Amino acid sequence: MTVPPIEVREFRVGDQAKVERLWQSAGVVPQGSDAATVIDTYVRARAHHATILVAAVSNGADKSQIAATVIAVDENGREGTLHCVATCREYRRRGIGRATVQAAERLLQSRGVLNIKLRVDEDNAPARAFYRNLGFKEANSCYLTKTLTTVSCDNNRLSSAVGN
Ligand SMILES: CC(C)(COP(=O)(O)OP(=O)(O)OC[C@H]1O[C@@H](n2cnc3c(N)ncnc32)[C@H](O)[C@@H]1OP(=O)(O)O)[C@@H](O)C(=O)NCCC(=O)NCCS
Repeated sequence: MTVPPIEVREFRVGDQAKVERLWQSAGVVPQGSDAATVIDTYVRARAHHATILVAAVSNGADKSQIAATVIAVDENGREGTLHCVATCREYRRRGIGRATVQAAERLLQSRGVLNIKLRVDEDNAPARAFYRNLGFKEANSCYLTKTLTTVSCDNNRLSSAVGN
């Protein structure tokens, strides 16, 4: 299969609508959030520790088409995380996801990151195969979640719990 020429580069404001569409169709936006909010959060965090990378297709016809994305986050100078790893359906299985994630790895490594963690749903077999192909090892741990609801709070007990 032909691999279109791609340029992996940083997200620009003009990419916003295309990236939102890609994330919505790929289902990578965290539950309870939306693509615009995720972009806004990471663009604002850019100066500190997060970079949105996009794979722009330069096929002559539409130079600004976005084929894939990844958000690379330097969590603490040693450990990085990846988010919103996605490739447009029509561009899958052409090595574009791999090239994009590898660019994120290089970026994090250049910032001193030694190890990358990411979360993938257990039933997402294509993504698990993709990450294995890239050399990721599945860790023997599980992901826990709890929705925090309004609970009655005894202020005295809370104060003593935090040492006041
Ligand atoms: C997972 C995803 C990003 C892969 O993107 P991609 O651009 O198609 O991946 P690549 O073409 O770079 O694949 C590299 C290798 O990964 C493996 N791989 C990728 N997709 C695969 C699939 N559907 N089934 C099995 N292996 C797969 C293959 O080994 C592939 O190499 P090969 O094509 O030479 O066999 C893409 O399928 C996607 O966007 N999925 C929906 C969003 C998602 O689940 N993201 C991950 C959230 S954690």
